[in-house]
Amino acid sequence: SPHAKAGNRITTPLVVAHRGASAYAPENTLAAVDRAARLGFDWVENDVQRTRDGRLVVLHDASLARTTDVETVYPGRSPWKVKDFTAAEIARLDAGSWFGPRFAGAKVPTLREYMERVSRNHQKLVLEIKNPELYPGIERQTLRLLGDEGWLDPLHLRDRLIVQSFSADSVRTVHRLRPGITTAFLGTPPVTRLPRYAEFTDQINADHRSLSSGYVSAVHALRGPRGRMKVFAWTVDDAATARRLAGIGTDGIITNRPDVIRAALR
Ligand code: G3P
Ligand code: CA
Repeated sequence: SPHAKAGNRITTPLVVAHRGASAYAPENTLAAVDRAARLGFDWVENDVQRTRDGRLVVLHDASLARTTDVETVYPGRSPWKVKDFTAAEIARLDAGSWFGPRFAGAKVPTLREYMERVSRNHQKLVLEIKNPELYPGIERQTLRLLGDEGWLDPLHLRDRLIVQSFSADSVRTVHRLRPGITTAFLGTPPVTRLPRYAEFTDQINADHRSLSSGYVSAVHALRGPRGRMKVFAWTVDDAATARRLAGIGTDGIITNRPDVIRAALR
């Protein structure tokens, strides 16, 4: 059975729609959030960055080139970095056509628009602070916006929000600013260093290829700021891998194909 025994509990991993249901709709758009909701998934993941004029937007790459028509709309502004464009300029871009003609007109969401949609859909969010080294102060700014949108109320903090980053500094900063927020470090620190991470983060969100049964157990043996530490794995789109991860006790699976993973874990 693809479920791990933790003590005498049987656990099934939480399924998180990576960049929304991004196998079926353009990543990090409201369409991808809605697609996840329609498939029955409350947890979505996104990536947050900042524009030249200081607005928070949702996009994965440091450049707008792969997932928008920026090269056509603004030729000559190579390498089309998010940080070099204003929010108004980015609002003119098409972030859907690259994925398929039926998504023409999809926009790069501002974080505020994104939070409003996730709230309206009664969804939950794994928010990634992406490339924080490019955006000094982005942690404080992101938390301010989350607070404005009501997402730092105790009810939400209990089980509706996880903030993650590949930058340990960024995760530590979020924890220091708001210790009530569940945080995750993206990566696989050596087992000997895990206790240091447990001082400021609740989860290790790891590349699935780096996860073994021993590693998951080592994380589970630690207590983070909010109790027993957890392990999530990314980015897992096939049934066999999902079952392997469930079998070693992985607490969450981040996937572009949440329906496939849910079926695999049944
Ligand atoms: O949520 C984990 C995963 O998103 C990390 O990798 O490159 O897809 O942001 P990436
Ligand atoms: Ca991400």
